[in-house]
Amino acid sequence: MAGRIPQQFIDELLTRVDIVEVIDARVPLRKAGREYTACCPFHDEKTPSFTVSPTKQFYHCFGCGAHGTALGFLIDYEHLDFIDAVHDLAARVGMEVPRTQQDATPAQAGADLYGVLEQAAAWYRRQLREHPEAACAVEYLKGRGLTGETAADYGVGYAPPGWDNLKRALDAEEAAFVQAGLLIKKDEGGTYDRFRNRIMFPIHDGRGRVIGFGGRVIDAADTPKYLNSPESALFHKGRELYGLYQARKAVRKLERLLVVEGYMDVVMLAQHGIHNAVATLGTATTHEHLERLFRVVPEVVFCFDGDRAGRDAAWRALGNSLPLMRDGRQIGFLFLPEGEDPDSLVQKEGREDFTARAAKPVPLSEFFYEGLMAEADISTMDGRARLVELARPLLSKLAEGAFRHMMVVRLAELVRIDVQHMVRMLSPGAKAPLTHGGPERRGRAPAAPTPMSQARLVIALLLHRPSLALEAGDPQRFAGLEVAGAELLRELLELVQARPHLGTAALLEHWRDTAQGRQLMKLAQWRHPVPEEGIEAEFRVALERLYAEGLERRKERLIDKSRQGPLSAEEKREMATLFPTVSR
Ligand code: UTP
Ligand code: MN
Repeated sequence: MAGRIPQQFIDELLTRVDIVEVIDARVPLRKAGREYTACCPFHDEKTPSFTVSPTKQFYHCFGCGAHGTALGFLIDYEHLDFIDAVHDLAARVGMEVPRTQQDATPAQAGADLYGVLEQAAAWYRRQLREHPEAACAVEYLKGRGLTGETAADYGVGYAPPGWDNLKRALDAEEAAFVQAGLLIKKDEGGTYDRFRNRIMFPIHDGRGRVIGFGGRVIDAADTPKYLNSPESALFHKGRELYGLYQARKAVRKLERLLVVEGYMDVVMLAQHGIHNAVATLGTATTHEHLERLFRVVPEVVFCFDGDRAGRDAAWRALGNSLPLMRDGRQIGFLFLPEGEDPDSLVQKEGREDFTARAAKPVPLSEFFYEGLMAEADISTMDGRARLVELARPLLSKLAEGAFRHMMVVRLAELVRIDVQHMVRMLSPGAKAPLTHGGPERRGRAPAAPTPMSQARLVIALLLHRPSLALEAGDPQRFAGLEVAGAELLRELLELVQARPHLGTAALLEHWRDTAQGRQLMKLAQWRHPVPEEGIEAEFRVALERLYAEGLERRKERLIDKSRQGPLSAEEKREMATLFPTVSR
């Protein structure tokens, strides 16, 4: 994705933008020494551990580990995709985003699709007001208790009956309608309208653009009850959350999101002043949904029917949630009385009662063990052993941390085993007990990654002060060196030598969404132990030490090889330069 926009442009953009301004406009920052701080917007906290460095143009939270550049911040905080975030920043500093040649076509097609969908949404809305047959749709919505105001807030519209409305009404290529999922191709040629005689709910992306529709039948005899847009370049069911755009607009600081099942649930809750509900689009809650949700809020409450099917769906959601659980994140389950959904219930009991209900969901931990205990009777010893075995694979999905520890403690209580013993039983390979809150874990300051132990200091210093690269000699000497990180170091040195004005953030963006990028991000946040005034000397020494170590390894490798057989001419030449004194 990053390749769509020329990297040069990103470089330029990040040198013009000031991350402090970008963040401060959303999360007020306070100056603290050379950096700025705030309470972290990505997790719940009372004392600030979120810091922004104006020199590195980088932010980092010591509490939850969130980090990134101004671009990364917009992506995570505003819930934008990469391209949107670039456009947003560019608009701020008055730059025009260029596109590379080969990408112009799909991007252009994307732009056209947005246009077609927007046109269609506007047309459906108008039909609800103007179409001669709209009376039945209006009656239907009234019958369900929906006010005109709410319908307008959510852009609800009406697709009139008929097979051939859109093409005649709107101005676009037939192919674009098909791509947007609005028209269906006939086998024998030609097309027809996908949505006919339905109430139309437009689905928006994070920026409020229409990317698809859900259409509900008016006539109860028609099927399916809800028809959704097909997957398209812009619309992916497993990713979208209906109502998220409106929720983020309506609530200044969202603390929690309520995940409900249907379009009408979201809309009717909003009509009752409950603006923080979103719906999946007829699919189970996916990993991707959850990631999106947790980017916006620390707490997610799933709302399900109280019946068997609802409980099963909740259990699936629980399974998908476990890998994403970490300290500071919270999940709860709200089970509604049988036969009710949020739409019917909020109309019956009103805002206050519903809100009170939603405020006391069943915590994940409780639902988790309740579910397992339905299959293991812990009044017997066998049952208790079974509970441990049922819990083991699920607990292993949890990241280490306070939450997992709490879950283990609860299991120990339930099966009446000493906690330390339980910790040992659950540790993989039953090795030494897991340590929690030990000194090496405290504060979760990111440890430098181990596989790059030699190069990590060099790279960390380089990221800290990119200009060091200018004194580093020819980067090519690190090519092919058998030391972890040498290749990345070479690339970094070359980049900075070629473009000396690049700052830390711009450098990091060159490796966006790659494994190296993640390592670089970690190193950029690492509080390396070198005092400011010693950085240059330390860098030089560490760099040469790394180089020397690489040469040593190369020598050893060549000697080993020469013992096993004759070396190639190339290798002999290398030997000669590596061992100048013994060269013939
Ligand atoms: P439900 O069948 O629970 O209906 O579908 P509902 O939301 O209560 O709808 P109303 O109140 O009768 O209008 C829940 C969700 O599942 C998806 C839709 O997203 C719907 O909102 N769904 C349902 C479909 O995609 N297709 C269907 O045929 C039915
Ligand atoms: Mn319903």
